[in-house]
Amino acid sequence: MKLLHVDASPRGENSNSRMLSRYFLDRLSGRLSDHSIDYLDVAAEPPPHPTALFTRAIYTPPAERTPEMVAELKISDDLCRRVLVADALVFAMPMHNFTIPSTFKAFVDNLVRAGVTYVVTDDGRYIGQLNRHKVLFITSRGGDLRPGGQLAHMDALTHALRAAFGFMGVSEPEFVDAQPMQFADHTARKAALSKAMADLDAVANDWVAASSTAA
Ligand SMILES: Cc1cc2nc3c(=O)[nH]c(=O)nc-3n(C[C@H](O)[C@H](O)[C@H](O)COP(=O)(O)O)c2cc1C
Repeated sequence: MKLLHVDASPRGENSNSRMLSRYFLDRLSGRLSDHSIDYLDVAAEPPPHPTALFTRAIYTPPAERTPEMVAELKISDDLCRRVLVADALVFAMPMHNFTIPSTFKAFVDNLVRAGVTYVVTDDGRYIGQLNRHKVLFITSRGGDLRPGGQLAHMDALTHALRAAFGFMGVSEPEFVDAQPMQFADHTARKAALSKAMADLDAVANDWVAASSTAA
């Protein structure tokens, strides 16, 4: 199994989401007979925001792109390739102002590419190309935005990820959300962390079982 692991928290060693993604990968690594991990830290190396040239280049057929367009798309091409060759994607991030961190949004802006991560058929249908990937989103939130709670309607993060990755073909992403991790008392934070770890154990078990069935 080829894994791509992406972290997006700017908080380095103090980050909850980084700790949880490391926890998940540790649970998985020892139990997969054959695997490799490609690692990307979008907080340390933020992908570029779309420029005017980028926005022209992505909608210009490859054969008609100028050398400047080809150069402008190089980072995006490389990110798309890393995602497409992977079998499983593990994305870890904090909630920032009710949605995904801006560095992860820049990553998404480099990934959603016509003719690369999605194709449009002659009859106008969109076919996402990430349709064979296992995808896990690990998120950490300061507050508690769980369904049914007072703040649930403000969770734009889950919607942003489901929409963008759904468009690229990811129909059944898994979410492990650690919440509340900041704006709560010690007991609630501890319970949130324990639940997230138990959820990650369950996803790791599923992925190991699926990979041994596939082998
Ligand atoms: C700039 C910024 C914005 C934040 N916005 C939210 C928010 O909208 N909702 C929330 O629940 N927590 C918010 N938080 C808190 C973080 O999501 C929380 O501390 C999380 O555990 C951080 O994850 P990390 O340790 O992996 O960076 C915000 C934190 C920062 C730094």
